[in-house]
Amino acid sequence: MQISPSILACDFANLESELNRIDNADWAHVDVMDAHFVPNLTLGLPVVEALARISPIPLDCHLMIDDPDRWAPMYAEAGASSVTFHIEAACEPASLARNLRSLGARAGMALKPGTALAPYADLLPGLDMILIMTVEPGFGGQSFMADQMSKVREAREAVDKCGGEIWVQVDGGVSATTIEACAEAGADVFVAGSAVFGAEVAASAVDQLRELAARHSPARVRFPHRA
Ligand code: DX5
Ligand code: ZN
Repeated sequence: MQISPSILACDFANLESELNRIDNADWAHVDVMDAHFVPNLTLGLPVVEALARISPIPLDCHLMIDDPDRWAPMYAEAGASSVTFHIEAACEPASLARNLRSLGARAGMALKPGTALAPYADLLPGLDMILIMTVEPGFGGQSFMADQMSKVREAREAVDKCGGEIWVQVDGGVSATTIEACAEAGADVFVAGSAVFGAEVAASAVDQLRELAARHSPARVRFPHRA
C-alpha cells in the first residue's frame, strides 16, 4: 500500500519545504498539465529536474499532456522514477513504455473516467502501473467518482492475471473517507492532494491514509492474520 501525495495541492512558493512535509510518503506525485490535453497549466521539465535534485522521495510524474510519445521520455531523463502517460494521448503506447523502462523509469498508463480498460488490457505486460482516474483530469480538489470502482476492480483482475508486479493507482478525490472503497476494489497506490497538503500535519495524513488502505485491502480481508 503506497501513498503518493499530489504536490498540486502544496504551496508552490515553497516546493522544497513542502516535499519535506511528506518525506514519509512513498512517492511525490507531480501533475504535469499542458493546457491542451487538459484545460490547465502547471509545470514542466525544468521544474521536475529541480524537484528531482532536492526531493527526499522518488517522483511519480503524471503527464496530462499531448504527444507523450515525444515528451514522456524526457521526464524520465529529468529524474522521475515513475512516468505515467495518458492512453488517450499516446500514439505508440507499447514502444513508449519500453522507452521509459529503458531509461530506468517505471512506465505507467492512465485512463480518464470515460475511457474503458478492455481495449488496452493487452498493453499491461509492458507496463509497471495502471492509473485509474477518479476525477476528470485537470484540477485538484474535485469530488471522488465512486462509479470508477468497477474499473479499478477490472484493472486488479487484469493485473493479477498478468502476474508480475503491476501496480493499480487511483487519483482524484482520494481522502480518508474514499480510500477504503479504492483499497477494497484493489488499488495499491493512492494519490491524494488536498487530503494530504490540506492537513495540518501532512505526514500524519499520509500515515492515516496508508493505514486505512492497508486495513481495507482485499488481501487483508482474505488473510486477516497477515500484516
Ligand atoms: C487531477 C490530478 C490529481 C489531483 C489530485 O488532474 O491528476 O493528481 O491533483 O488532487 P485531489 O486529491 O485534491 O483530488
Ligand atoms: Zn495526478
